[in-house]
Amino acid sequence: MLFGMVLPAVALVLVVGFSGSIGRASPDIRLLASSAGPTNSSPIALTSDDKFIWVVNPDNNTVSVLEVGGDLNVKRKEIKVGKEPRCVAITPDNKTVYVTNMESGTVSVINAVTRLKKKDIKVGAEPFGCAVTPDGLKLYVANYSNDSVSVIDTFTNRVIKTIQNVGPKPRGIAITANGSQVYVTQFLAQLRNDARPVSEKEGRDDGKEGRVTIINTATNVVAGTVVLNPLANVGFKSDGSVLDRLNPDGVFDFDTGAFPNLLQSIVIKGNKAYLPNTASSPNGPVRFNVNVQAFLSVFDTSSNLDSNQTINMNSGIQFEAVGKRLFATNPIAIAFKHNSDVGYVVSAATNRIIKVELDSNGKPTINAPTSAGDPGNIIRVEVGKNPQGIVINSTDTRAYVFNYISRDVSVVDIESGSPTENTEIARIDSSHLPPANSFEAILLRGNELFNTSIGPAGTQDNALPPAGRMSDFGWGSCYSCHPDGRTDGVTWMFASGPRQTVDMSTTFSHPQPPGWQINANGAPLLPSSHQRVLNWSAIFDEIQDFELNIRNVSGGQGLITDGNPVVGLTPTANTGRSADLDALAAYTVLGIRAPIAPKGKATDIAKGRKLFEAAGCHTCHGGVNWTRSRVDYTPPPGAGETITGGQLVRFLFNVGTFDPNAFNEVRIVGGTITQGNSLGALGFNVPSLIGVFSGGPYLHDGSAQSLEQVLENVTHRSAGSGGVDKLGLLVDRLKVAAFLRSISLKTKIFP
Ligand code: HEC
Ligand code: HEC
Repeated sequence: MLFGMVLPAVALVLVVGFSGSIGRASPDIRLLASSAGPTNSSPIALTSDDKFIWVVNPDNNTVSVLEVGGDLNVKRKEIKVGKEPRCVAITPDNKTVYVTNMESGTVSVINAVTRLKKKDIKVGAEPFGCAVTPDGLKLYVANYSNDSVSVIDTFTNRVIKTIQNVGPKPRGIAITANGSQVYVTQFLAQLRNDARPVSEKEGRDDGKEGRVTIINTATNVVAGTVVLNPLANVGFKSDGSVLDRLNPDGVFDFDTGAFPNLLQSIVIKGNKAYLPNTASSPNGPVRFNVNVQAFLSVFDTSSNLDSNQTINMNSGIQFEAVGKRLFATNPIAIAFKHNSDVGYVVSAATNRIIKVELDSNGKPTINAPTSAGDPGNIIRVEVGKNPQGIVINSTDTRAYVFNYISRDVSVVDIESGSPTENTEIARIDSSHLPPANSFEAILLRGNELFNTSIGPAGTQDNALPPAGRMSDFGWGSCYSCHPDGRTDGVTWMFASGPRQTVDMSTTFSHPQPPGWQINANGAPLLPSSHQRVLNWSAIFDEIQDFELNIRNVSGGQGLITDGNPVVGLTPTANTGRSADLDALAAYTVLGIRAPIAPKGKATDIAKGRKLFEAAGCHTCHGGVNWTRSRVDYTPPPGAGETITGGQLVRFLFNVGTFDPNAFNEVRIVGGTITQGNSLGALGFNVPSLIGVFSGGPYLHDGSAQSLEQVLENVTHRSAGSGGVDKLGLLVDRLKVAAFLRSISLKTKIFP
C-alpha cells in the first residue's frame, strides 16, 4: 500500500531529475545520504544511527542483527536468508537490508524494522558484492560467475537492468559519494595488455595486473577499466630467477615483483580508492617470502588511473623482532575513519586488523620498520578467527569486525586517546558453532587451517606465537592461492614446472560414493572415498601430502609432529599422522563447493554435448567427477605401481599440450635451470571439467586463455576418437565450448 502511494511521485522525480527530498516514509533520506559519503560492499554493515550491526553467516545461511548502540553489544535476531550469504547493504533510511546469497543466486530483501524477510530477488550466478547508491535508490550486485552486474530499484525491489560483460569475476563494489560511478573489482588478475606472448607473461611477476570496471550510473553501461599495476620491487629478494634463467646461487640479490590479485574489496576515501589484496609473485624459485604479498593498491577516482601509491604491507616486517613479527597476510577488507586519515586493514589469515595512515597525498603506510634495528610502529589488533570485513561507526570510536570462522563480531575501541585504544573490547556471537567433537567441528577446524597462516604454535622461532606452524611468521595460507578452495588463476613456476593452481572443489567427487569411509580424525579414507590423483603431474595421492607445501612453499614448521620424515608418495601414507592435517582433508571433501555455472544457450549446450561424446572426450573426462583420474588403491602406492620422476605414470595422458620449447616450460633441476625438462613429457593427470567455466586460464601452464583455445589443439581434441579429428569445424568447437561452460554438479554424467 505504501509503495502504491509513493511510486507515482518517485517516477515523476526521476523523470524531472529532481534531487531534493521525495515522498518516501522518511522525507530527508537524500540529505542523510549525501552526508554518508561513498558506499562499498561488505559482509558487515552498520545502520547510519550507529545502533545496529547486520552481518552475514555464510556457513549457516543466515544474517544476524546485533545491537551495538551505547556499547550494548547483544545479538537481537538471526534471520534465515538464501545459501551462502556474502554481502549485506542497508539503505540510508535504515529501513531495508539487502543480502547477496552466492550459492542461491539471489538477493534477500529484509524489512529492517520488522526484521522479516520480504522476498528473494533472482539475480545472476554467484552474486557476491553489493552496494546501495548513496541516495539509497539503487542496489548494485556483482554476479561473480555471470560477469554481470544487476541493478535493483530499491522501491520496487526489481532488477531494472543487468549490465553484461563487466569483465571476468566481478566481486567487490564501491560507489562514489556523488553516486555517479560504480567501481567493480575483477577478483582475479588479468594478463597485462602488452606485446609479450602469453608464455612470457604466464609465470612472470609482472605478467598480470589488477582490474576494476567502471560503470556510469546515469546510463548503467561500462565506462572503462582502471588498471592496477604490479610492483616491480616488493622489497624481498630471491637468489635467482627461473624465467630469466638465473640459477639459484644462495645470494639473495634478485629483486622480486608481484601483481595485485584476489581483489575482494574496494573502499573510497577522498579522491582515492583503496584495494587491499593478496598479490601473486609466481616466478621461481618459489620461496615462502617471494610468492604472495600483502598489497594495498591505490588509484585516483578523478583520473581513474593507478596513483603509484600502492604499498606492499609485508615490506619492512622482516625487520621486526621474533615474538612480534607477523606478516600482513591476505588483506581482504579495509575501513577508514570518517574524520581522519586513519584506516584499518583486515588481515584474514593472521586474525588481526592493522592500522593504516594516509599522508596528505593519500599514500598509505603501516609504519613498518625501514631497516634492521628500527622497531617501527605497526599497530595490530587481535580479533576473532579469519576476519573478513570491517565497518567503523560515524563518530570514529568503534570498529566492528566480522570473523568468518569464529562466527562472531569483534568490537574494537578505536577512539583516539582512549585508554583501551586499539584493543578488542567485546566479542558478540553472531551464529552458533558446531558441537565440540562433532564431524562439523572437524570441518570447521579444517576450514580454519585452510584460511589461516598461523595454526598451532610450533617450537621453531618462526612458528612461535604470534606465528604458528602453517607458515614462516604467518606468511602464507592455502587461501592465498586457493581462494574459497578454488584457484587464483596464476601459473606458478613450481619445482615440477609451470603450474596453474588447481581448483580443489573437484578434487573429491560430490557426493561421495555410498559407504565412503573416514578415519577417527574425520579424514577420508582411500580408495573408498572418490578422490582424484593429485596435481597436474600426479605426484601426490593424499591431501595430507600437502604438508610438504606447508613446509616448503609456505616455509612453515608443518603439522606433522611425529618426527618422522614426510614424503609425498612412498613409503608411508600421511593420512592419520596429524589430526589437523586430517581435518584439512575432511574440509577438502565436504567444505569446498563447486562453482555454479551461468546459464547458457540450451540448444548450443545440447549440440555441444553430442559433439563431446562423439569426440570421445568422456573417455578421459567422464565419470562422476568428469575425470578418469581416481586413487583406486590404499596409499602408499604398491610395489607394482610405476613411479617415474615422482609421478604415478598410470594416470598420465599425453594430449599434445606439452611444448618443451615454450618460454615458460622451464624448471630447476639439481640447482640448475633447464628448458623443457619439466614434468610433462609423459603427459598430465586429467583435470575434472565440473565448473571448468570458472577456471581459466587453462592447462598446466596457463597456455590456453579460453576453452575455445583448449580445443584448438588437434592432438588433444582427437585423443578420444582414435586420432580422427571430429572437431575440425570452428562452429562445432564453439558448441563444445558452450557445453563445457555449462558443466556443473547437476549435469548428467557419462558413466
Ligand atoms: C603459492 C600458491 C599455492 C599455495 C600457497 C597452495 N597451493 Fe595448492 N596448488 C597450487 C598449485 C600451483 C597447484 C598445482 C600444482 C601442481 O600441479 O604441481 C596446487 C594444487 C593443489 C592440490 C591438488 C588438487 C588436485 O585436484 O589435483 C591440492 C589438494 C592443494 N593444492 C592443496 C593445498 C593446500 C591444502 C594448501 C595449504 C596448505 C595449498 N594447496 C597451498 C598453488 C598453491
Ligand atoms: C586421452 C585423455 C583425454 C581426452 C580424450 C581428452 N582430454 Fe582434455 N585433457 C586431458 C589432459 C591430460 C589435460 C591436461 C593437459 C595439460 O594440462 O596440459 C586435459 C585438459 C583439458 C581441459 C583444460 C582443463 C583445465 O582445467 O585446464 C579441457 C577444457 C579439456 N581437456 C577438454 C577436453 C575435450 C572437450 C575433449 C574432447 C574433445 C578432451 N578434453 C579430450 C586429457 C584428455
